[in-house]
Amino acid sequence: MQIGMVGLGRMGMNMARRLLCGSQGVVAYNRTYAKTEALAREGATAARTLAELVQQLAPPRVVWMMLPQGPPTEEHFQELLSLLGSGDVLVDGGNTHYRDDQRRAAQARETGVLYVDAGVSGGIWGLEEGYCLMVGGPEEAFRHLEPALTALAPAEGYLYCGRSGAGHFVKMVHNGIEYAMMEALGEGFELLAASEYAEGLDLQKVAHLWNQGSVIRSWLLELAERAFAEDPRLEKIAGYVEDSGEGRWAVQAATELGVAAPGLAGALFKRFLSRQQEAFSNQVIAALRLQFGGHMVAETGETHHRVCGAGAGRTQPATPETEGVPPASGPGGERRGEASE
Ligand SMILES: NC(=O)c1ccc[n+]([C@@H]2O[C@H](COP(=O)([O-])OP(=O)(O)OC[C@H]3O[C@@H](n4cnc5c(N)ncnc54)[C@H](OP(=O)(O)O)[C@@H]3O)[C@@H](O)[C@H]2O)c1
Repeated sequence: MQIGMVGLGRMGMNMARRLLCGSQGVVAYNRTYAKTEALAREGATAARTLAELVQQLAPPRVVWMMLPQGPPTEEHFQELLSLLGSGDVLVDGGNTHYRDDQRRAAQARETGVLYVDAGVSGGIWGLEEGYCLMVGGPEEAFRHLEPALTALAPAEGYLYCGRSGAGHFVKMVHNGIEYAMMEALGEGFELLAASEYAEGLDLQKVAHLWNQGSVIRSWLLELAERAFAEDPRLEKIAGYVEDSGEGRWAVQAATELGVAAPGLAGALFKRFLSRQQEAFSNQVIAALRLQFGGHMVAETGETHHRVCGAGAGRTQPATPETEGVPPASGPGGERRGEASE
């Protein structure tokens, strides 16, 4: 089958390559034409404009957008809709909000175009491993797309999830889970790195060990193995974590549906915190502790109180004299029982 690929970024470019490897025809369009030319050298047909892309496809046409969600996808959707005709299939493979899909699917229906929302997972590894595909929209369009889905996905790696929006809804939940799983791994490894056993623990070896038959073995843990192999204490990586929006939508959906999702929400909020040099909430807490209990506060800029790396200070052990347990230290090292809150 022939697919018109729109957007040759980290995802679209490799997806197009995988389609070509899977003997699917690719007509490619990208804002920066140099990338289109590069893909043409690998066997794709180049298009300089969306109109040219549509002209080079045989009906019923299949066009797959792989663009940032929001205005870039919306603008391309509107232009493509004006170029495509009844029976053509238009796929949005980016991380779009499922409500946008519902609106677009309704608009597409008026012209007879079949709009498909496809959640894609696999990142930069998808070229080799295949992409996991979560598909929503008209089932006839899904059936029509199956040769392309088969080429893109690993074995059993695609699913028809239901009517318009279902594919991106399932992908949104997937990403929410991903946030919480990464947060749990981060916390676990910090606990190891802050412990009295830290010096003797090789975190890469622990990650590798856990991948051998343990309950938490996973691809994320395999990636943790790789990360610790490259930089055993992650000294070259700052603890600054962006979010792409999907985690926020998952928490919003949980709120709308009355679903308790403290793991997802906590992981999302932790990312916000990672981007703040000084959290105002912490300043408020410190100010209140000073007000009601005369507790120690650090002045603004007094950064020597901060702890780099794992653990922010220990609590005093129940029996301070216990052999081998270090004494309380750092900002969290207040003595137990001291001016309790
Ligand atoms: N990266 C991942 O791991 C991953 C995983 C699953 C899903 N996704 C989703 O897949 C989609 C693409 O992600 P990506 O990682 O491939 O992004 P990317 O590497 O940043 O590439 C973005 C692509 O969109 C084009 N583009 C951006 N803004 C545009 C605009 N205003 N007008 C026209 N073209 C524009 C870029 O063209 P130029 O080449 O001209 O800049 C490029 O081809 C996103 O929705 C993302 O959320 C990403």
